[in-house]
Amino acid sequence: MAPGYKVFFSELDNPQHYAELKESIKAGKITDAKETVSERSKLLYPEYLVSATPADSNAYNNQTNPDGAKNDKGHLGDPEFKSLFNKDHKKFDLSPNLGTEIDGIQLSELDDQGKNDLALFLETRGLAIFRNQDFRDKGPEFAVNFGKYFGPLHIHPVAYSTEKHPELFVTFRKAGDGSRYNEQFRHTTSTIAWHSDVSFEEYPSSFSIFVALEAPESGGDTLFLDGREAYKRLSAPMQKFLEGLTVIHSNYGQNKFAALRNQVARIKADYFTEHPLVRTHPVTGEKSLFFSRLFVQKVKGLKQTESDAILNFLEDHVNNNPEIQVRAAHKGTDSRSVILWDNRILMHSHCNDFLQHETTARHHFRVTCIGEKPYLDNSESSSNEKPQAY
Ligand SMILES: [Fe+2]
Repeated sequence: MAPGYKVFFSELDNPQHYAELKESIKAGKITDAKETVSERSKLLYPEYLVSATPADSNAYNNQTNPDGAKNDKGHLGDPEFKSLFNKDHKKFDLSPNLGTEIDGIQLSELDDQGKNDLALFLETRGLAIFRNQDFRDKGPEFAVNFGKYFGPLHIHPVAYSTEKHPELFVTFRKAGDGSRYNEQFRHTTSTIAWHSDVSFEEYPSSFSIFVALEAPESGGDTLFLDGREAYKRLSAPMQKFLEGLTVIHSNYGQNKFAALRNQVARIKADYFTEHPLVRTHPVTGEKSLFFSRLFVQKVKGLKQTESDAILNFLEDHVNNNPEIQVRAAHKGTDSRSVILWDNRILMHSHCNDFLQHETTARHHFRVTCIGEKPYLDNSESSSNEKPQAY
């Protein structure tokens, strides 16, 4: 029989593995909440360091955006992006389909029409990497207000955030001396975890804005894959079959791991949320494979072996296809990079390729905009409606 589909973090249900992990955290081999606070004095941007005890532990509420599809700023964007690219700049496409690197535009100076164009640009190219930004020096308040232009901001149920701004999701790994490599790969050969941000929510993210505060010169890239192209590559009968499926996403494992690491917890609840496996973009009408591997548990209504077979096929389909993937390099602290993407059409993953080396800290914050409730629109106006000829 084919191997089962491995749900992320399911190893924590194994008491021996759980006990080993607890021991590693106690021994300081894995980052925990206490460590992130104790590193404060060494950081370039301590105001963005996490708080172990959030100012408002009840900040997390049921976060929705019922008119998200209608109110998406991309509807107001100019397809020629004239207010985004209105002066000298350099632009480089990472691939013809996906991702663009831009230098010479200052995000903090965009007016409303520039931001509308930015939304549409992300919805078209999926990913934009802006270099030499002053974003991180404008302060947390600026970041929050910038993000709010695109929709309500998500407050993560368990992830680290700054003390006064729970909307700022912080990722932090202290400066490395190479000693954590063995621990990270003790039980696995890869830590790649493709996902769409907070897809376990009923209203998951539209845009993520990921701001580098400190980054290694090389390594620790963010990897991206194109859900639109992942959908298009499939045969018409397979597309049709997948369009009929609903998938269950959950934060169950993430919550369990967070508790083990003494992360802040604004909620105790585990969500099991249903989303269509193929979703339609509210602005472009494009269909995309919404396979958020990190949070996907099961296909609703299928028997376990059927669900395992489909999900394993999809994992192989996206994992083993560099033709639909690009990587965004942060390129060190001095690159002052801000990376933005559209979670409705892209999946992404961290890349732990630097742990065996001596590096600077890796410290970022993310502003996460809440999008619409995912839906599939098979009406005539949907742009991918016509089956492809294979
Ligand atoms: Fe993410």
